[in-house]
Amino acid sequence: MENNYKSYKLKKREKMARGIYKLTLEGRENARPGQFYMLRAWQDYPLLSRPLSLHDCKEEEFSFLYQERGKGSKILTSLKENDEIKVLGPLGHGFEIGNYKKVAMVSGAVGLAPFLYLAKELKKRKIKVDFYAGFQEESYALEDFKPLVEKIYISSDKGLEGFHGNVVELLKSKKIEDYEQIYSCGPNPMLYSLLKLVDPKKTQVSLEAHMACGFGACLGCNIETRSGEKRVCQHGPVFSGGDIIA
Ligand SMILES: Cc1cc2nc3c(=O)[nH]c(=O)nc-3n(C[C@H](O)[C@H](O)[C@H](O)COP(=O)(O)OP(=O)(O)OC[C@H]3O[C@@H](n4cnc5c(N)ncnc54)[C@H](O)[C@@H]3O)c2cc1C
Ligand code: FES
Repeated sequence: MENNYKSYKLKKREKMARGIYKLTLEGRENARPGQFYMLRAWQDYPLLSRPLSLHDCKEEEFSFLYQERGKGSKILTSLKENDEIKVLGPLGHGFEIGNYKKVAMVSGAVGLAPFLYLAKELKKRKIKVDFYAGFQEESYALEDFKPLVEKIYISSDKGLEGFHGNVVELLKSKKIEDYEQIYSCGPNPMLYSLLKLVDPKKTQVSLEAHMACGFGACLGCNIETRSGEKRVCQHGPVFSGGDIIA
């Protein structure tokens, strides 16, 4: 598996907001919304590749949206057009898409990354989506969602846009029981607090975990769930909310 990394050329790097970047790679990938890749654009240091969710996938290109956090993401930001990026994937299980009429997507910060590709898939299946997008400050990367979803509700922790507060507080004033399924992605504390508000069995959560291998070999991403110990990389990153001990 370690040798299954594929090499792609960076087609475009865009700055979407302060510390938020989008990388578009040239090439064709066949993946499901919610799956992720291990990325590296360096030799030995840092040792580990970094997991990023697939943001979008088109005929001849695919992209990642990420927040610059530390060593790995800073190297990604320093890349130039035509530089090489190695990716391993698609990995993990993506979002389950049932025969729904109306669903919601709920994101915290850069947790919106996997939702563009999901929204495209939902639109193809004629499933209506409301998108609740939470940010710390101002919103970003929402333009591409507009033709795909019914409504976008924005929250800002600092009150710079939309609802003043976090996205879970925003949801408290909405008729969430109308949604047949809630897709969620963001910092784990936000997901745990969401699961206390909604029906966990009608909710899918994409969890974050520190990952070393990305494919089930190192046991570095184990979590305890209601159905036993699970690896986020292999059994997730998307889990049924009913399985999560929040
Ligand atoms: C399945 C999966 C999908 C992900 N998809 C995305 C995505 O689409 N966009 C995105 O911006 N990020 C995503 N992440 C998180 C991303 O992998 C980390 O932000 C990244 O690995 C940080 O690497 P770094 O070298 O920049 O930071 P590091 O130098 O490794 O760490 C910097 C800081 O970030 C913290 N950190 C690092 N990794 C994580 C993590 N996995 N969870 C929580 N805190 C962490 C560290 O504790 C440290 O405080 C995803 C994580 C997982 C597990
Ligand atoms: S990252 Fe190695 S088992 Fe999950």
